[in-house]
Amino acid sequence: MIRYFRVLAGSNLKIRRSTVVAATIAGSIFLLAKCTNNNKPANTATAESAPRDRFSEYAGSATCENCHRDIVEKHAKTAHHLTSEPVNDNNILGSFKKGRNEFDFDKRTKVVMEKGDSGYFQVKYVDGKATRKGRIDIVVGSGKIGQSYLEWIGDHLAQLPITWYGPEKQWSNSPGYPPDKVVFNRPITSRCLECHTSFVQKTGESQNAETYSHTRIVYAVDCEKCHGPAAQHVQFQSQNPSVKEAKFIVNPAKLSRQQNLDLCRLCHGGRLNKTKPSFEFSVGDSLASFFAFNPLSIEMANIDVHGNQYGLLSVSKCFEKSELKCTSCHNVHEKEDGKLQVFSQRCMNCHNPEKGHPCKMTAEIGPSISQNCIDCHMPKQVSHTVSVYLEGATTPTAALMRTHYIKPYPEENEKVIAWLKRKNK
Ligand code: HEC
Ligand code: HEC
Ligand code: HEC
Ligand code: HEC
Ligand code: HEC
Ligand code: HEC
Ligand code: HEC
Repeated sequence: MIRYFRVLAGSNLKIRRSTVVAATIAGSIFLLAKCTNNNKPANTATAESAPRDRFSEYAGSATCENCHRDIVEKHAKTAHHLTSEPVNDNNILGSFKKGRNEFDFDKRTKVVMEKGDSGYFQVKYVDGKATRKGRIDIVVGSGKIGQSYLEWIGDHLAQLPITWYGPEKQWSNSPGYPPDKVVFNRPITSRCLECHTSFVQKTGESQNAETYSHTRIVYAVDCEKCHGPAAQHVQFQSQNPSVKEAKFIVNPAKLSRQQNLDLCRLCHGGRLNKTKPSFEFSVGDSLASFFAFNPLSIEMANIDVHGNQYGLLSVSKCFEKSELKCTSCHNVHEKEDGKLQVFSQRCMNCHNPEKGHPCKMTAEIGPSISQNCIDCHMPKQVSHTVSVYLEGATTPTAALMRTHYIKPYPEENEKVIAWLKRKNK
């Protein structure tokens, strides 16, 4: 099973978490005013009119294809685009083949993945008898780390007991679930959906769980999560094909540095305590108007490599001493995972013998240094919040993730120098 908890340096406090993202952020205080970008779609609701119908402001990424085909095609392969979808015959990564479709809790209890005429299911068996059946309705996670499954129970969403763990290509117990109990009804919060979809219409709350519309959902972290709802943009540009400049759409490149960072921080900033309902934040807004940042200083917070790239980056010298943003290194329209040389080129936009701040190891390593700054300065580290109990294991397997605390890690030198030598033989 995957366990999530937060560990604070300087105390022995361990807080169990029920969501995937742990780690606290320590906040810098944001004094930025709300965005005054006139290009943002207008909020059409007035005080007297009906409540704002946010869902109708979305056009859906299929509509972008007519005019931005190249970006739509590349984006389709990204983890963002693949992070949530209604279930179909191709998107469940875990196996349903006999022998590989079971997770045993103990000698008597197991969960079996089954395909039936009406869909895909996780079925609990006690002493060979089926006692509970959960239907896979929504798939969450690109699978690089893992994939979880959600079931509609009335208008609630619940997480199914078994999650597929990517690095080991095995079924495991779902995040935060007790290792010895099969749990079918853990409610999915709107905050969970806020990080893994673009929009979900919340309809209310009952039996201590939030309720949602089944149909008014914009799946995936898609175009309109980062550019704002775009129905008005699509309508305007379609009706005015001769107008070559964009209207009613946000380009994050034109925002202030902090606004630009706040977009990514919404989901890559660790645990944030919201002060307004989920899905109210939109690109261009100041995150501080929607979340209360933890007053802990950054030194006190032991930031985990999972889920808080913003926290780690913000204590790095690169971030403090330059205008570095997430998008200085990441082209979010493309799947670039594993392209270490491409990322290294982006480091060298600021670090090279001509521009200054070159690596002190440049002479020792030689020209091949440009192939991999990453493994020496952003090594993969063990996550303390994402660790999985695989079937039958007594110790957890921890996920490895890139740290965004950029600095020298001399203990990595030997390994990386040997790797570069082998590669360039
Ligand atoms: C009918 C054509 C059309 C459609 C459909 C369309 N756009 Fe655009 N879009 C344009 C034009 C024209 C521009 C301005 C030229 C450019 O930047 O490519 C533009 C520019 C943009 C920009 C850059 C804005 C800026 O200020 O630099 C973004 C972001 C954008 N569109 C997003 C989207 C998204 C997301 C969708 C789908 C929901 C979409 N567009 C659908 C025509 C369209
Ligand atoms: C709505 C929430 C959300 C926003 C906003 C968001 N991300 Fe993400 N991001 C995610 C989630 C969730 C994943 C993991 C997806 C998965 O693997 O299923 C992810 C994954 C990634 C990855 C890993 C890709 C890979 O192939 O491993 C990168 C890089 C990334 N995000 C960068 C960014 C940057 C840069 C921004 C801001 C421009 C941003 N994200 C904004 C939620 C978000
Ligand atoms: C995770 C956030 C994110 C997602 C998802 C995303 N974009 Fe972007 N997009 C950006 C950022 C950030 C920029 C500005 C890049 C820069 O700094 O130059 C951008 C720029 C653009 C531009 C301006 C031209 C350009 O190429 O820079 C267009 C057009 C655009 N995006 C369309 C789309 C479309 C269409 C989709 C969906 C298929 C999409 N974007 C998905 C973050 C995102
Ligand atoms: C604050 C935003 C946030 C919340 C809340 C959140 N996640 Fe995530 N989740 C992420 C990000 C970001 C990643 C990937 C990057 C990372 O791990 O740092 C991720 C990764 C995952 C993955 C692994 C995807 C992969 O890369 O294969 C799964 C599965 C997942 N989340 C499911 C959930 C579920 C289910 C919930 C709610 C019960 C949830 N998450 C809550 C942001 C969030
Ligand atoms: C936007 C420019 C920019 C980019 C891109 C950038 N850095 Fe930096 N980095 C800086 C600046 C400025 C400093 C501070 C230099 C100083 O203090 O003299 C710095 C400092 C560093 C340091 C020293 C840190 C310390 O604690 O001593 C390392 C190591 C480093 N960068 C590596 C990288 C790597 C690796 C990448 C790519 C993954 C990268 N940088 C990308 C601007 C950048
Ligand atoms: C100085 C360059 C740089 C900056 C700035 C940067 N990243 Fe990254 N990021 C990387 C590199 C390099 C990787 C590793 C890519 C790989 O292994 O293929 C990475 C990986 C990731 C991943 C995947 C994590 C994993 O372990 O697989 C996520 C998510 C991510 N970045 C999000 C962000 C967000 C959000 C920001 C801004 C807060 C950001 N990054 C800023 C260089 C950067
Ligand atoms: C084999 C590991 C390794 C590789 C590869 C590597 N570095 Fe370094 N780097 C180090 C170590 C170790 C230090 C600290 C050396 C010292 O202080 O004597 C360092 C120092 C630095 C510094 C700080 C320099 C200063 O003046 O304090 C920067 C900036 C830097 N590296 C950037 C990079 C960039 C950019 C790349 C890729 C082009 C890169 N490094 C590749 C190991 C590496």
